[in-house]
This record gives sequence, C-alpha cells and structure tokens, in this order.
Amino acid sequence: METQNRLGSRIAFGVCGGIAAYKAAESVRLLSQAGHDVHTITTQWGARFIGPLTLEALSGNPCISSDAIDGSMRHIALMREVDLLLVAPLTAETLAKFAHGHADHLLTQSYLAFRGPVVVFPAMNTAMLEHPATQRNLDQLRADGVRVILGESGALACGETGPGRMAEPELIAEVVESVLTQPLPGLKGARVLVTAGPTREALDPVRYLTNRSSGRMGLALARALRNAGAIVTLVHGPINERLPWGTENVAVTSAAQMADAVLSRADDQDVLVLCAAVADYAPVYAAQKLKKDQFDGQLKLNRTQDILASLGQRKRTDQILVGFAAESENVTANARRKLESKNLDLIFANDISRPDGGFEGTENALFALGPNGFCMDLGHHSKTELATQITSIINTKRTTGTL
Ligand code: CTP
Repeated sequence: METQNRLGSRIAFGVCGGIAAYKAAESVRLLSQAGHDVHTITTQWGARFIGPLTLEALSGNPCISSDAIDGSMRHIALMREVDLLLVAPLTAETLAKFAHGHADHLLTQSYLAFRGPVVVFPAMNTAMLEHPATQRNLDQLRADGVRVILGESGALACGETGPGRMAEPELIAEVVESVLTQPLPGLKGARVLVTAGPTREALDPVRYLTNRSSGRMGLALARALRNAGAIVTLVHGPINERLPWGTENVAVTSAAQMADAVLSRADDQDVLVLCAAVADYAPVYAAQKLKKDQFDGQLKLNRTQDILASLGQRKRTDQILVGFAAESENVTANARRKLESKNLDLIFANDISRPDGGFEGTENALFALGPNGFCMDLGHHSKTELATQITSIINTKRTTGTL
C-alpha cells in the first residue's frame, strides 16, 4: 500500500524584524518536535526582536544571522540542501525585496538562491498590508509560485484591530506538513467529503442531547486527505478543536442540518467518509423552556435520518463510501453487518468497551473491513497516524478498485 512520506525534512526558517518574531520561537519548537531539521536565518532586525540563541536552542542548529556575515557562504550551501524555505514573520520591507529580487542581506540572498517550495507568513499593520504597493508585492510573490499565508484578523501590536496578524505557530506547523507531504495518485485532485464530531439535538431553547465525540478522528482524516492532495469539504458538528487549514469547513449543529449539508453536496464527491457521531434520535422540540412542575420525566424521541444509509442507497459506482462503527461487542461481525446493510465500500470499527476505545482521546484502535472478507487490524495508534493509514487504504481502493 502506498503511504505518504512523513519523514523529517530539512527546513530553512527565515525570521524578519517584527513583533510577531516572538511566534517564530514556538513555530521552530513545533517543527523540531515534529521531527524536522530546522535551520534559522534572521535579518539584522529579526535578530533584535528574537535572540539567535533562542532559535539555536529550540532548533538544535546554528542560526545564520544577517549581521554576522563571514566569507563561509553557509547560507548558499544551506539552500542547496533544504526541502522548504519558510519565512515567519515576513515584513513589508523584506516582502518588497523578495518581490523585486534584491539580494542585500543573507535572507534575501537565500530566497534567490533557493529552487524549492517557499511559504511566507506576512505580519504587519493593517494599513500597510492593505496598501496597494504591499498588495502588488504579495501578488508578485504568488505569481512567482510562493505560498502566502495570512493570519486571522485580530488585535495588532500597533493598537489597531484588523488583518495583518501573523498566523499562529500551530497553523504554521500544519501548513508545513501539508506542503511537505507527498500527494497520493488516487487522491490528488479528488473531491472528498468528511463528517466529524457529535451532533446536538435541542429539546427546548436551553437544553440539548449530545454525545462524547470530540471530532478528533474526523479532523485528523480531513487533514490527512488534504495532505494527500484531495479537495476536502469538512462538515462538522459542535467541536472545541482547531479546524483544519486548506479545507472547506461547514459548521452544523443538529443531525438534520448535517444530513442537509452532506446530502446536498454528495453528488459532487468522489469519496465520502462519514466519521461523525450522529445522534440516532432527536427529541420532540418544545418551543418554550420545559418547566419542572409541568414535565412528567418522559422525553419523546424520534429517529433521525441515517445519512450513511441514505448515501449507500444513491451511491454512484464511481464513488467510494466509507463509514465508521462504534461497537461495544462483536466488533468485526457487527461492523460487517453495517458494511453490507448500508452498501459501503469500507468501514472502520472501534471497540468502545476498551479503556482506549476512541471517544474523547487522542488515540484509537481500529479494524478496517471491506467487501470479499477484507479485514485488517490497524492497531492502536494516535488518531493522526490512523488517519494516515485510512487515507492510504482509500488511495489503494481508488487506484486499484480492490483491497
Ligand atoms: N451515521 C449517519 N447518520 C446517522 C447515524 C449514523 O450517517 N443518523 C453514520 C456514522 O457517521 C457512522 C455510521 O453511521 O459512519 C455508524 O454509526 P453507529 O452509530 O456506529 O451505527 P448505527 O448504524 O447508527 O447503528 P447502532 O447505533 O445501532 O450501532
């Protein structure tokens, strides 16, 4: 089975002189922790905002500082060896130099000397960002093949609120992972819809029924499929986790809303992966708050639509439909029954009676089942690792038609 390359890569990490440089430290730490070999290059002003010693301690490699020029040409040698150049923060000044091909210091020279992928994370005052000159320079970088990732609007160090903040370190690490991961042939350009999280069924204006799903397995799947090159739509219930970057994220609350969101998009998809813990029953809604002296303690519940089963009934032969099964006994036998009764191509089953049974945690243990008796124990791993395995199984199914 073809797998994605997740081995550590060599990254050149440029740091310019802006207050957001403090986020570079955490970003370097996250990338090093993920197994990458990070080499930092600071501009003269960058080194005044964040000490090279900090970057050296966090990366485990010497920092190349623009105010410590020697004749060694270390930066040119480095650019021959790295897989990616990342600049965070990228200031308006260095952006303009990149756009015009200046080579006045070590970071601008490194940019010109590099033939691989470049990702930049601009950070500046909102007016500076919105100025036509800056926008022109950003467009020039995009036209030159550079990926430009802007942060969310928010409070800026200058006291204003608006766009211009640098992306958060977790987002920087996620973008790097996505740029460095090898696409898979069966998923590159494929349209994939993933559902994640619980649904929430209101019983009156203040109360609802829900379940323990954290949404982490579905989020990990959306990320792994995006890394494999798929165009991912994520339909998610109420979750407290950071949503993926580079996917279309559709927020819903109830099972009925999830059914609408999924079924209205289903025909455009090549693959549908239904990982959400959808409520099987919804209470009859009381428009006014239920008062305890008028409530008899009985809730009337109605079945919700089984989204997966509905998709199984209308599935095209060129679509792949993937379900999940949470079982507390006879795990593989019950999962196989669901695979067949819901007309699925694949089902991933977990044993929720185990202490590590999947809900809420960051790890899970899964079995993969498919037609013709296909059954594979994926073992107990982090949800991120399991998502990579599931992605590679779906890729095999797409490329070979079998498992
Ligand atoms: N599912 C769905 N719509 C529902 C309920 C479930 O699409 N209303 C999907 C889930 O996303 C999952 C699969 O069905 O992919 C299995 O859900 P599960 O609750 O384990 O099984 P059920 O078929 O609902 O059966 P049971 O609860 O009896 O085990």
